[in-house]
Amino acid sequence: MKRILVTGGAGYIGSHTVVCLQESGYDVVVVDNLSNSNREVLDGIEAITGCRPAFEQADCLDQTALREVFRKYAPIDAVIHFAASKAVGESVEKPLLYYRNNIGSLLNVLDLMREAGTGHIVFSSSCTVYGQPDADHLPVDETAPIQKALSPYGHTKQVNEDILYAAAKADKSLRATILRYFNPIGAHPSGKIGELPNGVPNNLLPFVMQTAAGLREKLRVFGDDYNTPDGSCIRDYIYVMDLARAHVKAVERMLTTPAPAEYSYPDAERVEVFNLGTGRGLSVLEIVRTFIEVTGQHIPYEITSRREGDIEQVWASPEKANRVLGWRADTPVEDILLSAWNWEKHLRGIR
Ligand code: UD1
Repeated sequence: MKRILVTGGAGYIGSHTVVCLQESGYDVVVVDNLSNSNREVLDGIEAITGCRPAFEQADCLDQTALREVFRKYAPIDAVIHFAASKAVGESVEKPLLYYRNNIGSLLNVLDLMREAGTGHIVFSSSCTVYGQPDADHLPVDETAPIQKALSPYGHTKQVNEDILYAAAKADKSLRATILRYFNPIGAHPSGKIGELPNGVPNNLLPFVMQTAAGLREKLRVFGDDYNTPDGSCIRDYIYVMDLARAHVKAVERMLTTPAPAEYSYPDAERVEVFNLGTGRGLSVLEIVRTFIEVTGQHIPYEITSRREGDIEQVWASPEKANRVLGWRADTPVEDILLSAWNWEKHLRGIR
């Protein structure tokens, strides 16, 4: 049985990925500092899969603690590195914290992988690396230019991608897969795990859920004067379970196929990059209306001014991931929104 170390495995995307890994027959070790998650997530995973993953509470910045994890669970066949700070606004206020956490963690993971002889890593990146692509780059494929990051958070993703390229170039035993996520939403259909936003949510879906649950008075739709069909921003919302399955595919590919001999940009030697999205853009207003339609819940909302730093429209070309990984994000948005509502009801004790 292959063993996968999942950093940040108690987090939102991490926990759903742990479920998919276990259901695909992998032995999973979770490392998480629980800074933005909690132990009950492990109960949720166990309730779904019937198997509790090994868990170590440790910070990836703590090299001694992380070395001990690599030693205790040797041999580790691959690492999926989710652990990172992810709030864009907070990263502007506390840039040093973000650079230290997000970059220091990856450096430690790579150092220890080398020490332990673990040669495969999947890294969580983001479509934020593309900024606002030109119209002729929509949908965005992996060859679209990387643009100057708008936040320290976005910059850490770019720097970490560069670190992986350089590390794999220098170390022939290292192979990396960079996954650029579009907008992950939804929850496991069981309602036993899902997103746990900290404080007032910044992201659209958690805010919609909390408004529907009565925790927030109303949703603010940030702008309806964009150059889009209904004036609100467009994103590629991808179901978190579809996203989780892509990680299993990425691990499988690295563990079972030789690294392709020939790469073309943006793939360097032994580093492959994939956009993970649906290929379909939806506007903020479409999301809100579809949610109201499928759940019958009331969502008071108002149109307000634009949010600073927002991108007008971006959606993925998932063609490469579809073709190379044999993976597709095809869950209907209605089902995704219902899964998110199901989870919110579970969290709030709503029947
Ligand atoms: C944001 C980050 C992105 C990060 C991602 C992580 C910015 C500029 N981008 O993406 O770097 O990778 O989160 O999940 O912060 N909206 C509302 N009302 C709300 C909240 C959001 O109208 O209360 C709108 C936004 O204007 C946007 C859309 O909903 O058009 C999606 O917003 P959000 O969920 O925050 O994601 P992104 O901004 O795409």
